[in-house]
Amino acid sequence: MTTSDTSLLSQPAPERLAVSEGLFARARQVTPGGVNSPVRAFGSVGGHPHFIASADGAYLTNADGARLLDYIGSWGPMILGHNHPAVREAITGALQGGTSFGAPNEREVLLAEKVVELTRELGVERVRFVNSGTEATMSALRLARGVTGRSHIVKFRGNYHGHADGLLVEAGSGLLTTAHHLGEAAPSSAGVPQEYAALTLVSEYNDPAALDALMQERGHEIAAVIFEPVVGNSGVLIPTPDFLAALHRVREHGTLLIADEVMTGFRLSLQGASGLLGIQPDLLTWGKIIGGGLPVGAYGGRAELMEHVSPSGPVYQAGTLSGNPLAMAAGLATLSELQARPELYTQLDRYAAALADGLKSAAQEAGVPVSVNQIGSMLTAFHQDAPHGSVQTYQQAARSDASAFAAWFRSMLRQGVYWAPSQFESIFVSAAHGDTELNLTLDAARRAYAELG
Ligand SMILES: Cc1ncc(COP(=O)(O)O)c(C=O)c1O
Repeated sequence: MTTSDTSLLSQPAPERLAVSEGLFARARQVTPGGVNSPVRAFGSVGGHPHFIASADGAYLTNADGARLLDYIGSWGPMILGHNHPAVREAITGALQGGTSFGAPNEREVLLAEKVVELTRELGVERVRFVNSGTEATMSALRLARGVTGRSHIVKFRGNYHGHADGLLVEAGSGLLTTAHHLGEAAPSSAGVPQEYAALTLVSEYNDPAALDALMQERGHEIAAVIFEPVVGNSGVLIPTPDFLAALHRVREHGTLLIADEVMTGFRLSLQGASGLLGIQPDLLTWGKIIGGGLPVGAYGGRAELMEHVSPSGPVYQAGTLSGNPLAMAAGLATLSELQARPELYTQLDRYAAALADGLKSAAQEAGVPVSVNQIGSMLTAFHQDAPHGSVQTYQQAARSDASAFAAWFRSMLRQGVYWAPSQFESIFVSAAHGDTELNLTLDAARRAYAELG
């Protein structure tokens, strides 16, 4: 066992977080909860968020000057590592020519051509750029409704597709076992009208029988089934072959299948989770990596479907800043780099598999129950006593001991390792994570598990 070089991390002792705490106090005076996206507030793990001053490779530097080994990667986009030279140069180059035109520019064509080139085998012939993953899924669903003339959609409990009204819906727990009666699903946010939520039916991920039953009963009303092809938003859940077969069967009802690849797209392979797992969706949505760290989302599919989008067709969708040259440049540089170095996916997978193995044995040595799910560069270590790889559903994930996770998370952070601040999130490995980072992480994890055990 190698002992890592902890000098790479400066230990962020609590008293050294004065700057972050001061910024958080000021932020709360002017922004709800002090953050612009809720999970950043550390609500489920306790403590104050670190404000980040800069980032490079696998590391963040917080406003207090401490260096943190990053496993969030801006929640997915930074697959090449932070501040990657090719991406930085592409953005700087684009910047010289102005930041937004409100008229077409060549970089939009180049990025769309790249996306179509990479995903043509999935049937993608047209792609439309928007500014976030939320916009991508919202627009893809409008398109599906426009094409089919149907109002209802199906999503899966514990899958997150952004914060559009109709997607902030989950089944109440009492309805879980009767997924085919889930028309009464309740909104999971204030401000979403019940009438609107009623158009979203909720089924259970990795439960093919529930999906078949729901489609049998209501398939004729359902415009689309939207799903995470590998779930990141309940922690990592990997679809079973039977569930994937049931997803493909929804087409027998004239329903469109939408793979939400916002998290997995260009991460699990150049063709995303769909390419890796042999999924053939009708529409795909992207975000995160497609913008290389700048705000980009996209949706795409066969020309015959996508040509229903305005101005070609009657389904309206627009955006003042959509396709802006800086964002297109960052996305193009990122996808080009990934395409030029396909071995990166093997490297990412090898790192994450070694991390998974190391976490499993560290937890076992300390007597801490942990069940690890890992696929490619995505990984969740659920704090529960289930065999590794066996957590497949939202209900199983929810059995995890979130307070044990929170204690483990805080210990990791004290040691300079910045894990995702929730038991129900994936971590993201980047191309900048190497042997040094692996050793640092596993040394920290051993100590953190020992403190819990
Ligand atoms: C699978 C999935 N879809 C959609 C979204 C929403 O993307 P955004 O936060 O860019 O709106 C996310 C965000 O994490 C996501 O993970």
